[in-house]
Amino acid sequence: MRMSERSIRLGVVGTGYVGLTTGACFAHIGHHVVCGDIDERKVTMLNDGHIPIVEEGLETIVNESRAAGRLQFVLGSQAAAADADIVFLCVPTPQGDDGSADLSYIEQAAKEIASVLKPGAVVVNKSTVPVGSTLAVERVLQRDDVFVVSNPEFLREGTAVFDFLHPDRVVIGSADRAAAERVAELYASIDTPILITDPASAETIKYAANGFLAMKISFVNAVAAMCEAVGADVAAVVEGIGSDQRIGGQFLRPGPGWGGSCFPKDSRALVKIAEDHGYNFTMMRGVIDVNDEQLERMVAKIGAATGRVDDLSGVTVGALGLTFKAGTDDLRESPALAIISELRRLGAAVRAYDPTTVGELTPHQGVVLEGIELVGDALDIAEGADVVAVFTEWPEFSKIDLPQLAARLGRPVTIVDTRNLLDPALVREAGLVYEGVGRR
Ligand SMILES: NC(=O)c1ccc[n+]([C@@H]2O[C@H](COP(=O)([O-])OP(=O)(O)OC[C@H]3O[C@@H](n4cnc5c(N)ncnc54)[C@H](O)[C@@H]3O)[C@@H](O)[C@H]2O)c1
Repeated sequence: MRMSERSIRLGVVGTGYVGLTTGACFAHIGHHVVCGDIDERKVTMLNDGHIPIVEEGLETIVNESRAAGRLQFVLGSQAAAADADIVFLCVPTPQGDDGSADLSYIEQAAKEIASVLKPGAVVVNKSTVPVGSTLAVERVLQRDDVFVVSNPEFLREGTAVFDFLHPDRVVIGSADRAAAERVAELYASIDTPILITDPASAETIKYAANGFLAMKISFVNAVAAMCEAVGADVAAVVEGIGSDQRIGGQFLRPGPGWGGSCFPKDSRALVKIAEDHGYNFTMMRGVIDVNDEQLERMVAKIGAATGRVDDLSGVTVGALGLTFKAGTDDLRESPALAIISELRRLGAAVRAYDPTTVGELTPHQGVVLEGIELVGDALDIAEGADVVAVFTEWPEFSKIDLPQLAARLGRPVTIVDTRNLLDPALVREAGLVYEGVGRR
């Protein structure tokens, strides 16, 4: 990757996981970027040099680009869009009541910037939006002199900066070839294939990609359940199937079920988009059902480890990890929280540790974590715990001092390792009971 030969003026609306990464990475490769957000607290933090999210490498490139005068943070979308040649919309598209994607943030942002856009500007939907949203934004903008293009984002939280700068591909959907090429030019210094399509195909690619990834996880979780039933070892099975190049070994790791800010809403939106267009996407419905079952299976495993089923009153669960995966502070739709919520409904008390919730909780985290006792050290979850559950694959948990943990627990309780992170032999050596997913 080299610096871009031509610096382009960009506006980014929304400085969340996607917007902040997009803005910082484009500035890093040489463009001039103004990022705007309606959250005043976020903008102040960013202007004070603090990064509101946990994302490896982000702080460095934000601070370098600010120092080089290529990255600015402003309040609101208009200030971000006013001088820009290309404006990226990176606002939320949460799940609506009927499972469809809620487009109100996109429409609101488009409404806000419509009057300040320069003639000839390109507005880019980087948010994940259903088929037809490029046209929907055009309708809101009501500007014949600007173009709307779809450029879905495929980054993973935890490796967002790396993924943005080293993508497997860039997808650009536009009815106007010249507008698509202007967006493609932004990525010129990044060595990656660029696929230019019509808008509907670009929008479908994003949902189909997330749907396929969710399917791989649901598949391996179903295979893990099979392994438990027939006495097979899921690790051996995954090695055996994953080495077939038609299948591939990635994303075939059993766990507590998929979650996060994207898969749950995008898989449901995919079903809804299909349904709205007369297609019953039964396979995707199955993928979602298997995931719901997986969460229930984890609750049942934790209950069974204490010898209880429907009533967990008096039981204390020690939880290792709360975020939906390692490397991020994102708690949205975390399987850990879904499982904990069910355990609490059954009467259990939960004491939890997560490396990103130590210290001051953000207001968002504070609300979501209501009712969970948070401790400041992984071993502290052991105090009075009747069962331990590993929910997130943080590397520090794989190195946890098992003899110390066993000493703090004081009796041979079960570790329910929903991530298959620990070595079962070492857990047993420490005098504890091991229960993984699809393995003995
Ligand atoms: N998080 C991911 O891993 C990921 C990956 C690929 C795609 N996406 C998609 O990208 C989009 C954004 O996701 P995210 O995780 O970055 O969301 P986020 O909630 O982290 O950030 C969205 C930001 O937009 C701001 N905002 C909302 N309305 C605004 C407005 N009118 N003007 C200015 N700012 C406004 C919010 O204050 C917030 O800071 C979603 O559609 C999501 O599906 C997310």
